[in-house]
Amino acid sequence: MKWKNNLLITIIFTSIVHIHSDELFNLNEQFIATYDRTRNYLVSMLNPLIICIKDKAIIIHRGKRYEEQVVPKLYHDLKSLSHVPFKIYLTVMFNSGNLSETNSIELQQYLEKIRSIRNSIHFPSDIQKTQYEILDLSIEYIQTILKTKFIDEIQLKNFCQQARHLFSINIEIAARAHLDMLDEKIRPWYQNRFNDTERNSLQVLITGSKTARHGSTEKAYFYKLLGERHEGKHIIYVENIDDEQKISEILGVWLLDAKASAMFFDGDIERLHRDILADAAKVHVKQLFERSKNEL
Ligand SMILES: *[C@@H]1O[C@H](CO)[C@@H](O)[C@H](O)[C@H]1NC(C)=O
Ligand SMILES: *[C@@H]1O[C@H](CO)[C@@H](O)[C@H](O)[C@H]1NC(C)=O
Repeated sequence: MKWKNNLLITIIFTSIVHIHSDELFNLNEQFIATYDRTRNYLVSMLNPLIICIKDKAIIIHRGKRYEEQVVPKLYHDLKSLSHVPFKIYLTVMFNSGNLSETNSIELQQYLEKIRSIRNSIHFPSDIQKTQYEILDLSIEYIQTILKTKFIDEIQLKNFCQQARHLFSINIEIAARAHLDMLDEKIRPWYQNRFNDTERNSLQVLITGSKTARHGSTEKAYFYKLLGERHEGKHIIYVENIDDEQKISEILGVWLLDAKASAMFFDGDIERLHRDILADAAKVHVKQLFERSKNEL
């Protein structure tokens, strides 16, 4: 989804006109003000609206705002533990051969920390064993490095592979815990508190970050719950935004562009969502390079 389409019409009109007089600039300010006002109005009319942001689902229903926690603490705890072997790998990844003094000190300190954490973790009993295994594997590997003062590529690779097997188990448990909580919180809203009309008009906005793969669980869940196949009608996914005000603006732009597309582009609802300048630009770029080739 291309959010740079925000104020797309502005871009089109300014690029067509070419004259940058103050008067035209001021005229366009009015367009922007009207656009913003309309956008905010559209968002305020949404009922119901669910926004998944960080660990929460914000539910706007009949003019009231509710918050539900949808990511359990267990999810974060498992993530932190799975990151231990990864942190060790990152520390030594550019240090094959003799262990550097800096890394040696860092690993000694880290070793103490994970030893003390090993004594204090409390997970559900069926999960605890894997957590001990991850920590023990890490402790053992650091001890080897510190003793030999050497990073052996094959040893490192073996360590990473064993670790991967263990944190794959964690990822599954974490995903399940997250989904269970999400379902426990969302389904009562969807099935009992929303009526038929509201189930049809429900809009879901999911935020995620590229790095943490956060949001993909919510995405899968809501697609299934709503029986949706494509993004856009009820479900919108945006990356790397965790400011509620910004999210609401993005949602408004999306809704407004969809409505305007239907009017300006004769029912082609997706038209404004695509980069309207892209097609025109492609043609021009091609001509530009063909021209310069001929000039050579
Ligand atoms: C690595 O350490 C050994 C033993 O301290 C030393 O003999 C060798 O020169 C070191 N190698 C490098 C490339 O620094
Ligand atoms: C559903 O709830 C809305 C308020 O959000 C109300 O206006 C509408 O009449 C209700 N529809 C039905 C079918 O009960």
